[in-house]
Amino acid sequence: MKIDKVITSGKFRLDGGEWDVNNNVYIIGDASAVYIVDPAHDLDAIEDAVAKRPVRGILLTHAHNDHCELAPAAAERFGAEVYLHPDDAPLWEEANGDAPFVPLSDNEQFQVSGEAITVFHTPGHTPGGVVFHLPTEKALLSGDTLFKGGPGATGRKYSDFDVIIESLRNVIFHLPPATRVLPGHGEETTVGEEAAHIDEYVKRGY
Ligand SMILES: [Fe+2]
Repeated sequence: MKIDKVITSGKFRLDGGEWDVNNNVYIIGDASAVYIVDPAHDLDAIEDAVAKRPVRGILLTHAHNDHCELAPAAAERFGAEVYLHPDDAPLWEEANGDAPFVPLSDNEQFQVSGEAITVFHTPGHTPGGVVFHLPTEKALLSGDTLFKGGPGATGRKYSDFDVIIESLRNVIFHLPPATRVLPGHGEETTVGEEAAHIDEYVKRGY
């Protein structure tokens, strides 16, 4: 399996505010088929990276607008369905109205390139936040649940700092320490590197 990353730029909007963001879009699979994770901001750039390979699905880590608002258009362009945890339905509806999605559940698996993609529900940044574990690749697509330098933001509506810390401690930090963490924004890190700093993150409160 190969993990391709495309960095795209646009706006994140919530609670009446608006911020410029760069998003990491991941395309995972091989020459025969791919999944697209969080197709943000620029479908043409993503289509170039897909390079005419069949798209099996659009996987969303959560329903903040920067991650999800192009998902319905991506679904149409690539002929695939959108997968999202249903606890993010209120955020999805703010961005995309009644556009359809297929509900994800904890521990659900997808297959591509003969390898598993496992879904873990990791709420806190949003109620329906998930991460996608690629055990054979020793990689975790962490969305906005974990970044290099700490957990995702929990200052805005539907977020909860205590809940994100539980998701890190009870789910993500049980993965092998060498697991590469590929987040929704910014640089990659590892499970072990972040787990080593959890007390510091809890103490500072973000
Ligand atoms: Fe987010």
